[in-house]
Amino acid sequence: MQKYFNTAGPIDVADHYHIDPIHRLDWEEVRHLIDSKKYFVLHAPRQTGKTSTLLAMAKALNKEGVYKALYVNVEAAQALRGDVDAATRLICEAIAASAGLYDIEPDLRAMTIRLLAEQGFSGALTQQLTQWAQMSDKPIVLMLDEVDALVGDTLISVLRQIRAGYAQRPTAFPQSIILCGVRDVRDYRMHSADKEIITGGSAFNIKAESLRMGSFTAAEVRALYDQHTVETGQPFADDIFPELWEDTKGQPWLVNALGYEMVWKDKSARDRSIPITLKRYLAARERLIRSRQTHLDQLTDKLREPRINQVVEAILGGEDNIANIRDDDLQYVEDLGLITTRPSIAISNRIYQEIIPREVTWAWQATIPNQETVWYIKPDGRI
Ligand SMILES: Nc1ncnc2c1ncn2[C@@H]1O[C@H](COP(=O)(O)OP(=O)(O)OP(=O)(O)O)[C@@H](O)[C@H]1O
Ligand SMILES: [Mg+2]
Repeated sequence: MQKYFNTAGPIDVADHYHIDPIHRLDWEEVRHLIDSKKYFVLHAPRQTGKTSTLLAMAKALNKEGVYKALYVNVEAAQALRGDVDAATRLICEAIAASAGLYDIEPDLRAMTIRLLAEQGFSGALTQQLTQWAQMSDKPIVLMLDEVDALVGDTLISVLRQIRAGYAQRPTAFPQSIILCGVRDVRDYRMHSADKEIITGGSAFNIKAESLRMGSFTAAEVRALYDQHTVETGQPFADDIFPELWEDTKGQPWLVNALGYEMVWKDKSARDRSIPITLKRYLAARERLIRSRQTHLDQLTDKLREPRINQVVEAILGGEDNIANIRDDDLQYVEDLGLITTRPSIAISNRIYQEIIPREVTWAWQATIPNQETVWYIKPDGRI
C-alpha cells in the first residue's frame, strides 16, 4: 500500500510518511540515562509524537537484546480517578497485558493474577515490578505512557510505589522507568483525599531528568513532504513552505493534517499529476481550521481552565499584561503547547493564533483599547 500522512495516533513507519521517531530525541542521551539506571520523564504537548517515539525506542531496545523494554499505556486508570486500589489493579493488569501483547514476558500475566489474589491491591505495583525483575533474565526498561491521566491519590500512589522499589534496581526492580505525559512530573499538583496538596517533585524525587520533545524543524517538515513527492511524483510548490512553517511552527499533527488535507481529502488532488500549489495549500488550511478536528478542539477546551485562560488572555492583551504572568503559569501553558516563550512570548503558531482568540473568555474585554487587537487582524479584516 502507498504511504500516507497519518493524522490518527502513533506513527507506523511501514505505512506512514515519517521522521525517524527515535531521532526526535537525543537517542544517545536516552541510552545513557537507561544504561546508568536512571528514572526520568519524557514530556511534550498533545500529538507531538511521544507515543510513536516510545514505541520505537522499546522496539530498538528489544532488538538490541540487552534489556527487556515494555511500553504500557496507563490511561485506562483515568476513569477510576481517586480509587487507588482499583487503579493500581488496572495498572498492574495493563503492564501484564502489554508484556503479553508485545511478547516481552508472557508469564507476567499469571504471576500478576496470583499476586493480586494473594495479597490485595495496596502496594501491588511495587510487588509486581519486584517479582518481574527477579524472574527476568534481563534488566527491565519500563515506559509508562499517559501518566498524567492519573489524578489525585492514584497518581501519588503510583509515584510512591515506584519510588519504593527504586533502590533495589536493577535486580529486583526495573533498571529504568520512563514516565511520559504532557506535563513534567514537577508540575503535577495532586490533591489527596484529605485535601493535602502534594507536588510531583516531592512524590517522585528520584527523577534524574525531564526530556521535552519539540516540534519538527523546518528541514524535517520539508523532508516529510518530500517523502510524498518521492512516493507519488506529486510536487509541492516551493512557496508553500514558508507559509506552512508560520502556520504550524512544525507542530507534528498540524503538519501531517495539512498534508493529508491537500493530497487526499481534496479529491481533485488524488490525481498525482496535479502539482500542489500555494492556492491549494491556502484552501486546505482554511478547511482544516473550519473542520474543528480533535486536536483543535482539545486545544480550545483547555482554555476553560482559568489558569490557562488567564495566561492566554494576558498574552493577547500585549506586553504590559505579560509582565504580570507568573513564571510557573507560563511554563505550564508552554508545556501544553499553546504558547512558546522563545524568542518571545507568543501563541505557538499562526493556526493556533487564529483559533485561540475566538475562544478566550475576555474577563476585561471592555477595557482593551481597539488597537491592541490589530496584530492578529489582517488588513483585509480576517483574523
Ligand atoms: N515521527 C513522526 N513522523 C511524522 N509524524 C509524526 C511523528 N510522530 C508523530 N507524528 C504526528 O503526530 C501525531 C501524534 O503522534 P503520537 O500519537 O505519537 O503523539 P503523542 O504525543 O503520543 O500524542 P497524544 O498526546 O495524543 O498521546 C501522529 O498522528 C502524526 O500526525
Ligand atoms: Mg500518546
